[in-house]
Amino acid sequence: MKILVTGAAGFIGSYVCKRLLSRNDEVVGLDNLNNYYDVNLKYGRLDTLGISKENIDWYKFVGSSKYSSFRFVRMNLEDKQAMQMLFANEHFDKVVNLAAQAGVRYSIENPYAYVESNIDGFLNILEGCRHYEVKHLIYASSSSVYGLNGKVPFSEKDSIAHPVSLYAATKKSNELMAHTYSHLYGVPSTGLRFFTVYGPWGRPDMSPFLFADAMLHHRPIKVFNKGDMLRDFTYIDDIVEGVLRVIDNVPSPDFNWCAEMPDPSTSTAPYKIYNIGNSHPVRLMDFIQAIEEAIGHPAEKIFLPMQPGDVYQTNADTTALQNELGFKPDKPIKEGVKETIEWYRSFYQL
Ligand SMILES: NC(=O)c1ccc[n+]([C@@H]2O[C@H](COP(=O)([O-])OP(=O)(O)OC[C@H]3O[C@@H](n4cnc5c(N)ncnc54)[C@H](O)[C@@H]3O)[C@@H](O)[C@H]2O)c1
Repeated sequence: MKILVTGAAGFIGSYVCKRLLSRNDEVVGLDNLNNYYDVNLKYGRLDTLGISKENIDWYKFVGSSKYSSFRFVRMNLEDKQAMQMLFANEHFDKVVNLAAQAGVRYSIENPYAYVESNIDGFLNILEGCRHYEVKHLIYASSSSVYGLNGKVPFSEKDSIAHPVSLYAATKKSNELMAHTYSHLYGVPSTGLRFFTVYGPWGRPDMSPFLFADAMLHHRPIKVFNKGDMLRDFTYIDDIVEGVLRVIDNVPSPDFNWCAEMPDPSTSTAPYKIYNIGNSHPVRLMDFIQAIEEAIGHPAEKIFLPMQPGDVYQTNADTTALQNELGFKPDKPIKEGVKETIEWYRSFYQL
């Protein structure tokens, strides 16, 4: 199977590429290697895929020294012409769109970056899938689409009309845009709402990495909403297992779908939405304690109010993932944190 993975130098994308390559799929990885966070981490992830920094250039396909069926190209999703040519030349069977401007807090200061990558860029993905008959589009949504929803656990069957950040609004928009392409052109699409992903090679703008970095450098950590928050921290291997199962499970129209009581997670079109989360939300203070134990000393904490755009809790209902794909994320937090800290120490030689 020939698969395009966008965001291939990103946290989740690099792992997805590796898993696909290990089962002998042909993969083209795309990323613009932007500097939203330390770009050396992105080059480091690509290096694990056999792509060396020296060979990378805009629009140039680089072959992997480790995997004969992997090529990488540096490109912007929002580059309409380049994306059209990519789809026309490569004829992908499936597309996994993980490239996006991520992060809730950054969207407060940099709204345009979100519309360029997540809206304009996503439209180019949809157009490519439409015109070149891609058999399944899998794309990253986010738990942040649940916004002001207070009913927990968050279910894909709940309405999600109240996002509280532009980031969340672009992710919800992706789901809406995908539905129209599934409906109008029969492009089978599955949106994945990931819940706070952590693990080795994780994102430096996210709390697990920020906490570890501060604690290992003996700096105080910032604890928002005075630590009164719940997060469904999900280990990277669980996310990747979920993504792989979804890739192989092309959605078909739901003939039981009822227009009078519309289930938002399916449709008369080949369209599907899944939560992928650990479904065991952890108190922020307990997560910090797990990091303290893995590092071996307590953190100095600065307690701060809630940040604009943040939500009090995330909590995934993963019944659909379990019943339909036979998978339930289950990595215990202590184990996941220990592995993350071990990687962090070895990567940064601390
Ligand atoms: N990590 C999480 O906890 C989490 C939670 C919910 C949703 N998500 C979503 O999952 C996806 C992957 O997240 P991640 O944590 O791996 O993020 P990441 O930032 O590590 O990876 C995204 C990659 O996409 C690339 N990219 C961004 N804009 C691009 C563009 N316009 N053109 C080409 N490449 C571009 C970046 O350079 C980056 O390498 C994203 O869509 C994100 O919004 C992540």
